[in-house]
Amino acid sequence: MRASRRTVLAGASAAALVAVLPRTAAATAPIPIAAERRVIEVRGRAAIVSGLLQPDGSAGARFRAGDRFRVALTNKLPEPTLIHWHGLRPPLEQDGVPGLSQPLLQPCGVYEYDFALRDTGTYWMHAHHGLQEQTLLAAPLIIAESERTDEQEVVLMLHDFSFRAPDEILASLKSRAVEMTKAMAAAAQGGHSAHGQPAQGHGAQSGHGQSAGASHGHGAHGGAHLNDVEFDAYLANDRTLADPQAVQVERGGRVRLRVINAASSTNFMVDLGAIDAELIAVDGRPLHPVPGRRFGISMSQRLDLRLRIPGTGAFPVLAVREGDRQATGLVLHTPGAAVPRLSETAAEVAPPLSFAEEERLRALEPLAARPADRRMTIALTGDMTVYGWGLDDSGPNGMREYEVKAGERVEITLENRTNMSHPMHLHGHRFQVVGADGRRFPGAMRDTVLVPARSAVAIALDADNPGSWMLHCHNLYHMAAGMMAMLRYV
Ligand code: C2O
Ligand code: CU
Repeated sequence: MRASRRTVLAGASAAALVAVLPRTAAATAPIPIAAERRVIEVRGRAAIVSGLLQPDGSAGARFRAGDRFRVALTNKLPEPTLIHWHGLRPPLEQDGVPGLSQPLLQPCGVYEYDFALRDTGTYWMHAHHGLQEQTLLAAPLIIAESERTDEQEVVLMLHDFSFRAPDEILASLKSRAVEMTKAMAAAAQGGHSAHGQPAQGHGAQSGHGQSAGASHGHGAHGGAHLNDVEFDAYLANDRTLADPQAVQVERGGRVRLRVINAASSTNFMVDLGAIDAELIAVDGRPLHPVPGRRFGISMSQRLDLRLRIPGTGAFPVLAVREGDRQATGLVLHTPGAAVPRLSETAAEVAPPLSFAEEERLRALEPLAARPADRRMTIALTGDMTVYGWGLDDSGPNGMREYEVKAGERVEITLENRTNMSHPMHLHGHRFQVVGADGRRFPGAMRDTVLVPARSAVAIALDADNPGSWMLHCHNLYHMAAGMMAMLRYV
């Protein structure tokens, strides 16, 4: 096949080749992606991180509507890994969860993936093994909707970055929790019992914030605790605002901005400054457009924004850490416009992500109207004496399983009994956000919903992809500390 195609096209120029090949032929070869080490510069220091790269150095993969997902994944890392295609709905064996889907991919090993893409939109891929995600082992995964020629696409991938090893970060979260508990017990014995029950959820949040060391951003907001980890930098397409990516755009031009929050433990507020935007999709799924200039994005969520460049000049697109002023971002600029020096600290603290914004979202392609066949309530729980998180109080060694049957409409209420919000992600499905704290609304279709502290969020889904699927908090440290379960078809 390949040889004859080469012969036929032997005389054609490279440019013509793209035009002549029928699309199906172009789509048959798997896209080669390697998990490998790479070096980036952060704050003038070399940082050894990981990545998911094609041979030409581009990150991740891009498909078109109707393509099959065909990828050959090679592990060029010195340790085993496995990559999850976040938000896609593959058969279970190709979902990239170690043990559940397939065994870990050993160094030098290759896995091939091939399944029908059921969705278009903005997705991403990331390691689903240990704490590897924190090493930037992640990349965009775009399935382009029917192409618009009048729109320029810009992908903005967000990360939180630390020079510390991820297991060190987790260990310090745990030891801090233990120290806090001791300190509070001692204080209680001395007669200062005001803090009450340290064992409940993030009941210890006020003290927790104080003990964290460097602490802008560690504030308690309305009782909710926002950030667990102080990072060394926040990255936008691997760069900080001290040396941001500058993307040339046209004056008055339209831009399709695909924002992916690949951070391990950080929610952001995306701030478009002077640019008017419309939010047209979340988690890859289309919405009735919502106009605005600021939009929240939790860990693992995506925002698709349609922008109109307002004139000539440079237009920063910022992402500010929730409850903090630390910012990252990139700059859109018209030809010839000077790119200004930007501060890495926003003028104002980004407010906590608000569920009011979520409640305004309306899916363009909602679930069909239908009563639920099965309802369940799952509590999001925590034991802050040990930095342990869980679902229905699952302990460190117990992972709960929730049963569903193929064909059912399932409604799940996620009841957050802790003082932190949790970005809850379900594999292999998409769901609709249908309620919060007793209010009902036909919200967005998503794969990750942020459940605010001390709130209950209801989601509905059609059980149409048999298997055993992960349901977990996408805060990497919460997940590692037990906040995961399985949705199992019986
Ligand atoms: Cu984005 Cu279980 O993962
Ligand atoms: Cu969480």
